[in-house]
Amino acid sequence: MADLKINFAGIIAPNPFWLASAPPTNTGYQVMRAFEAGWGGAVWKTLGQPIVNVSSRYGALNYKNDRMMGLNNIELITDRPLEVNIREMKEVKERFPNHALIASMMFETKEEWHDCIKRCEDVGVDGFELNFGCPHGMCERGMGSAVGQNPDVCEKITSWVMEAATKPVIVKLTPNITDITKAGLAAQRGGANAVSLINTINSVTRVDLETFEPMPSVNGYSTHGGYCGPAVKPIALNMVSALAAHPDFHLPISGIGGIETWRDSAEFILMGASSVQVCTAVMHYGFRIVTDMITGMSDYLDSKNMKAIEDLVGHTAHRVKRWEELDLNYKVVAHIDPGTCIGCQLCYIACEDGAHQSIALQEGTRVPAIKEESCVGCNLCSLVCPVDDCISMVKVNTGKEKLVWAEHPANPHQIAAIH
Ligand SMILES: Cc1cc2nc3c(=O)[nH]c(=O)nc-3n(C[C@H](O)[C@H](O)[C@H](O)COP(=O)(O)O)c2cc1C
Ligand code: SF4
Ligand code: SF4
Repeated sequence: MADLKINFAGIIAPNPFWLASAPPTNTGYQVMRAFEAGWGGAVWKTLGQPIVNVSSRYGALNYKNDRMMGLNNIELITDRPLEVNIREMKEVKERFPNHALIASMMFETKEEWHDCIKRCEDVGVDGFELNFGCPHGMCERGMGSAVGQNPDVCEKITSWVMEAATKPVIVKLTPNITDITKAGLAAQRGGANAVSLINTINSVTRVDLETFEPMPSVNGYSTHGGYCGPAVKPIALNMVSALAAHPDFHLPISGIGGIETWRDSAEFILMGASSVQVCTAVMHYGFRIVTDMITGMSDYLDSKNMKAIEDLVGHTAHRVKRWEELDLNYKVVAHIDPGTCIGCQLCYIACEDGAHQSIALQEGTRVPAIKEESCVGCNLCSLVCPVDDCISMVKVNTGKEKLVWAEHPANPHQIAAIH
């Protein structure tokens, strides 16, 4: 059986499944129950100067019958006194010495950072996470994403922390930025031991059509909040991939954003993460989801003949290329399995109105037919088909060599070179 134990930038944990800094890590009571349930690590709800939270504070995007496909919040960092948090972190470490306990922090001055680092180290935390990502409330005060969006400031504050910390330091990055690699490289220059990403994405989820209120409403008004949950997973995966593939970036990555299952976790790990963090899925379904994550990941590693999580890390990272590097002579076409087709003809409508008019209806049957000669292999029909694996994309042997855009005759630079 595969070993799920990890060593993430020097932080040892029984498995790669950690709770992200958020409401599930607000108290010692919760973190201890999470560890009992099987979570390998927890990043404590961000510590900082006292704040006050609003009521209400969450909004959601439901998609048809699925609740909370995206979650939005206008909550700030911990609203509990620092000494209470530190006392409870000590209790957690005493009861669970082998689990990873990370203190998330956000402060303004160097002295405040240093003071909190010392107090957290005194109670035995295993590492720190610097919250440079919160997109609401704190950034207006020059913290959170205001730091993560400015590489120079990110580098400087990271270096302040590195002066005091003797435990590993993770910089948590904001996705509210054009190029995540700039922030990641700044954290690296500042001396960070690892990065984690993503924090939440700027968003307003909904307007109440009766009252005209933006949601979540605070007495009729709202503010932009942070978006997370399953809807953000593709954005997070892209950002992890951009950092993992960057030739100058060499730090371990903790992947965050829309992770609900061992499969989501495995995708982040394949893309280059070596631990993962979860918030929304636990807020939705509770700590118990980790049981399936552990058994699923363990079985998956066994099925791939892998002995440890580290064997899985990064296998996909090098496969995300620039568009210019893709083979323009590679070709697939759609193929319908008449045995499983239920004749709904959704594929026909999608291709006819939204793609390339390459599916025909046939006399005497509800099963449509693919016009292979005009099918461009866009995937749309297979994405809309409600039956799993009913439409597959089949490779066509074109007999042509690999051809990238730089060498393609239609490339204007190539044409200039020919003439
Ligand atoms: C209600 C709420 C509060 C959060 N508070 C914090 C916080 O205090 N510090 C922090 O670094 N991230 C905070 N986050 C962001 C999460 O740690 C995580 O980065 C984000 O939710 C993406 O993961 P998910 O899709 O699994 O939720 C919060 C998220 C939510 C939903
Ligand atoms: S969408 Fe799928 S099930 Fe529906 S007609 Fe097309 S192939 Fe058949
Ligand atoms: S792959 Fe695209 S072009 Fe081909 S049949 Fe399906 S929808 Fe049409």
